[in-house]
Amino acid sequence: MNDLLPGELSSDMAPIETWQFVERATREVFSRFGYGEVRTPVLEDTGLFVRSVGEETDIVGKEMYTFEDKGGRSLSLRPEGTAPAVRAYIEHSVSNQEPLTRWYYVGPMFRYERMKTGRYRQFYQIGAEALGSKEAAQDVELMDMVVQLLERIGLKDISLNLNSLGDDACRPAYQQKLVGYLKSHREELCEDCQRRLETNPLRVLDCKNPKCQAVVQAAPNILQELCEPCKAHFDEVKRKLDALGIRYVVNPQIVRGLDYYTRTTFEFIAAHPALGTASTVGGGGRYDKLLKALGGPDVPAVGFALGMDRLTLLLKESGQKFSDPPDLFVAVADEGSADAAFTLASKLRKEGLRVEFDTRGGSLKSQMKRADKTKARFTLVLGQAERESGKAQLKPMAGGDPIAVSLTEVTQAVRSAPQAPAPQATAAQG
Ligand code: HAM
Repeated sequence: MNDLLPGELSSDMAPIETWQFVERATREVFSRFGYGEVRTPVLEDTGLFVRSVGEETDIVGKEMYTFEDKGGRSLSLRPEGTAPAVRAYIEHSVSNQEPLTRWYYVGPMFRYERMKTGRYRQFYQIGAEALGSKEAAQDVELMDMVVQLLERIGLKDISLNLNSLGDDACRPAYQQKLVGYLKSHREELCEDCQRRLETNPLRVLDCKNPKCQAVVQAAPNILQELCEPCKAHFDEVKRKLDALGIRYVVNPQIVRGLDYYTRTTFEFIAAHPALGTASTVGGGGRYDKLLKALGGPDVPAVGFALGMDRLTLLLKESGQKFSDPPDLFVAVADEGSADAAFTLASKLRKEGLRVEFDTRGGSLKSQMKRADKTKARFTLVLGQAERESGKAQLKPMAGGDPIAVSLTEVTQAVRSAPQAPAPQATAAQG
């Protein structure tokens, strides 16, 4: 679990400004698509995840933070956001109030995983769920939303991998065929996959062990076993992606690590080596049977989640900075001006400027050192002469001539001063 800190204070994780930039972009892009934000508790009844994500998955079987509360109930820190969103949707009878619901969430999830770069025990997801439409257009709208978000934050070289897992009509027969094949190669599979063969055979398809991957190469392909309606749905997804000019790779090994999926599944995979084996920046798919299975209405749904830790690491890697330095540093030239400078800083902030002031006092030299460090655009030194004349100098920190200003018009002057080439990129302001 990580601390997220402002500026350059944390070396491993991206600075908080990068996270805030991604969050702002998310809200901006998702609202264009008509998605409303939901916030659900970080704790849920353990049974919710057992019944949705699935008892035999790694997430539920090995990775949940589960404990008993004082009332003897078994609770778990949420390992993902879909089950809580669906629980809330059912609990608030949303389907009786609107036929099509589009939600998104941003928040921490918890999985007891083996940690490495991009894989943490508390991590953050940006997720979206659309409930009420079974049409391919809904799947593609969500993928489009991810693509537009990735574009907005400037991440490139992320490929969309697409698959269909079929449904109750075609998956059982496929699964049987797959198990038959895998059993004939049992000895070549890793220990985990020998177990998965009994509990969750589809998961063998995305095992990263090279031995298993060799076996999987020649395994039966789910896409060749889809029933007519599933095939038509998958074809329509592809046709609509093509129509939007969204590039994708059909990858029959995208089976996902959660049990609730039917039909479309997809993952966004980054090419950048910085993430190592944690290169999947997001994934999702359709879960048309989940609501009913959880005791809710028979409503089809589809969604995705992106890993914010991974997105921000990629942005950090790209060298972009998202800090928002102060407009102005107000410095005090002599003790007698301390109160006036403090009051001026407060007034300028009220007017909307980002103003830094050294509350410790100290010499002008030490204040200027701090001004440099904060990367403020301008400094204004307030001393007896400035107080008496009602005038001061705005000194551009990036160099250039000082600007004479009246103390009553500092905000206007700062706002109208031409932007010097920024001392550091401030893409966060976009
Ligand atoms: P998931 O594939 O388990 O899907 O997680 C989505 C994304 O969360 C992953 O692609 C990854 O970027 C990030 N992630 C997962 N575990 C970690 C971790 N330990 N550390 C850092 N990042 C991590 C779901 O959670 C589904 N609920 C997605 C979904 C929504 N399907 C339908 N609707």
